[in-house]
Amino acid sequence: EKNGYDHFMLKEIHEQPTALQKTMTGRFNKEQKSVEFDELQWSNQQVEQWDKVTIVACGTAYHAGLIGKHVIEELTRIPVDVEVASEFRYRRPIVNEKTLVIVVSQSGETADTLAALRQSQHLGAQVLAITNVVGSSIAREADEVLLTMAGPEIAVASTKAYTTQVLTFYLLGIYLAERKQSVSQEYHDQLLESIAEIPNKMEEILEHSSSIRWYSESIKDANSVFFIGRGLDFPVSLEGSLKLKEISYIHSEAYAAGELKHGTLALIEEGTPIIALITQDEVSEKMLGNIKEVKARGAQVLGVAGEEKMNIWEYVDECCYIPNTLSIMTPLLTVIPLQLISYYTSLALGNDVDKPRNLAKSVTVE
Ligand code: F6R
Repeated sequence: EKNGYDHFMLKEIHEQPTALQKTMTGRFNKEQKSVEFDELQWSNQQVEQWDKVTIVACGTAYHAGLIGKHVIEELTRIPVDVEVASEFRYRRPIVNEKTLVIVVSQSGETADTLAALRQSQHLGAQVLAITNVVGSSIAREADEVLLTMAGPEIAVASTKAYTTQVLTFYLLGIYLAERKQSVSQEYHDQLLESIAEIPNKMEEILEHSSSIRWYSESIKDANSVFFIGRGLDFPVSLEGSLKLKEISYIHSEAYAAGELKHGTLALIEEGTPIIALITQDEVSEKMLGNIKEVKARGAQVLGVAGEEKMNIWEYVDECCYIPNTLSIMTPLLTVIPLQLISYYTSLALGNDVDKPRNLAKSVTVE
């Protein structure tokens, strides 16, 4: 039941700190000094043999995979491909016994993702599934399974399943880095420390969530909304954009901010709402440059940034701050205001938030 919330989606958004906590429980050794996955029986030889990771999923789970790519590449230097399952299954993907294939699916029943799993096994790859449903087809057929502990997700728009998938990629990235000794002890310890703090930081954002509600009023009549970001902020932008179109029915797109001048800038006019994520230090100057470009064309910009970046006030029209964390961890926090924006916009428009038109929770046919 909805536990006092008006919609399952809002309830599930608020369940995220607990869902993350549950997904982390039992994943660290006693001294909290390393990640443990008892269900992964991978020998060192096997881990050394993988020359590539291929992540396959659909929709929001695909967006979790894009974060997974960044995290695994950053922490292990193993090259990672990410592909939507409906494309992967109909080409001749380069996957073999030297590939670790990771399929991601909340329901564990998505037809295209299941087909990609079978095809990968047929090609000789080991398949790891990240799924939320024990006993689902994908959980049964995969070689190894990591369960997200999000609990049942009822709203069609995925929220807590997504953040637990992303969290699982962090844990897996750290786990593989430990096996390959590919990060310094110091950075490794910082990663473990910051990941443990994420649920409380999410809670902090949720406690101040009413401050984001008014923003939905200002975009609900827009024809188009754009999300921009660089580095890890880009896949989060894609997820924010999908969430918004899914339940508010407002057209929206996400861009890697550097791509704006290659076409999209032509669409920006007086009053066009832009949600800009500015959390990645190495590229934040570049982001501020992109924001100046869209402001010069009349865009109305909401900046989402870490609380240490107080100076972004000078560049944007509105700000939403997230608690400070390691640069690599920000996706677990920045997505929260984006989920809330889509929820409140859908609500303001009088849409059926939990059951958006034309969509089904589980896509078991292609
Ligand atoms: C969006 C959404 C969908 C699903 C997609 C894959 O909010 O929920 O994009 O993420 O249909 O579903 P699963 O994860 O069940 O394979």
